[in-house]
Amino acid sequence: MPGLTHPEILQWLRQPDSAALEQLFARADATRRTHVGDAVHLRGLIEISNHCVRQCLYCGLRAARAIPRYRMSREEILQCARQAVLLGFGTVVLQAGEDFGLAPEWIAEVVRVIKSETPLAVTLSLGERLPDELRLWRQAGADRYLLRFETSDPELYARIHPLRGATPSDRIGQLRFMRQIGYEVGSGVMVGIPGQTCEMLACDIGLFGQLDLDMVGIGPFLAHPQTPLGDPATPSAAEDQVPSTELMVLKTVALTRIVCPQANLPATTALATINTTDGREHGLESGGNVFMPILTPAPYRQMYEIYPGKACVDENATQCNHCLRMRIGRLGRFVGSGPGSRISSSL
Ligand code: 5AD
Repeated sequence: MPGLTHPEILQWLRQPDSAALEQLFARADATRRTHVGDAVHLRGLIEISNHCVRQCLYCGLRAARAIPRYRMSREEILQCARQAVLLGFGTVVLQAGEDFGLAPEWIAEVVRVIKSETPLAVTLSLGERLPDELRLWRQAGADRYLLRFETSDPELYARIHPLRGATPSDRIGQLRFMRQIGYEVGSGVMVGIPGQTCEMLACDIGLFGQLDLDMVGIGPFLAHPQTPLGDPATPSAAEDQVPSTELMVLKTVALTRIVCPQANLPATTALATINTTDGREHGLESGGNVFMPILTPAPYRQMYEIYPGKACVDENATQCNHCLRMRIGRLGRFVGSGPGSRISSSL
């Protein structure tokens, strides 16, 4: 019984009964085991810059905020990559706000050095960038690109992502382009964005399947009080509003596993933030097979505050590594070796 229809996805999203939901989680867990096994891949996250030209209504890094901004140096980034190797990670993710101060050739050079000095897979997550830049970085050796489309509903998308200049963004088109030029492609959404309905979220999950994504990141929307969407005065609660709860995130991860059986699905830091005790474990038990430990060094780690109260911010990379490995072991799972790309993990 592969896949799920739109009405089935919707029904599960609206299902309140925990006994019924156990069936969904069990099916997602079995699908995960069959298609990607018990390995949990570790992707070290390096938050290389918190500069951003965008004004996304939910994000703590939005350009309008007067916060301390940083860019890591090339040497600092390479140091983190070397640490990733020492900690046994297979991948580093270079993430930043949409920062055009990160010159395309500079990024390309950083990618080249990481690829030539280490066995790491390199994932880029640098926002909506120009086709030529994406091509340059792919040629420099970048393996994957992550760009969440956040919501497949055009009106909600437009409401929370003010235009920059005159050109509307086309993240779906960008994802297709990335695939064409040879990246493994990741996307994802936030669960519980004010104005997001179950109907919309069901469409998001369907779109993950249609795009045949290699990775899907799913986390709860977390209100940041210094952003328009986190302002208590902003009306939210649409009819059929998706709550930004752990349960809704877990349902979304589970449904995504069934729709994209071979995809890499992280148990995200945002999920760990709404349930610091065992949110990560719940993510791995509902279809997840990836953790993304933060490698960003202090003090930058504290400055990459996309939402407040972010889990793991007060730890360092060694502590995160230790904690996550313990959590994986306690579930009877093991840490994956090698880059953990969709191809190798599905063999
Ligand atoms: N709550 C939860 N997730 C957020 N992100 C940005 N702001 C928030 C927030 N307030 C997520 C977006 C983005 C990713 C890097 O972080 O989905 O794609």
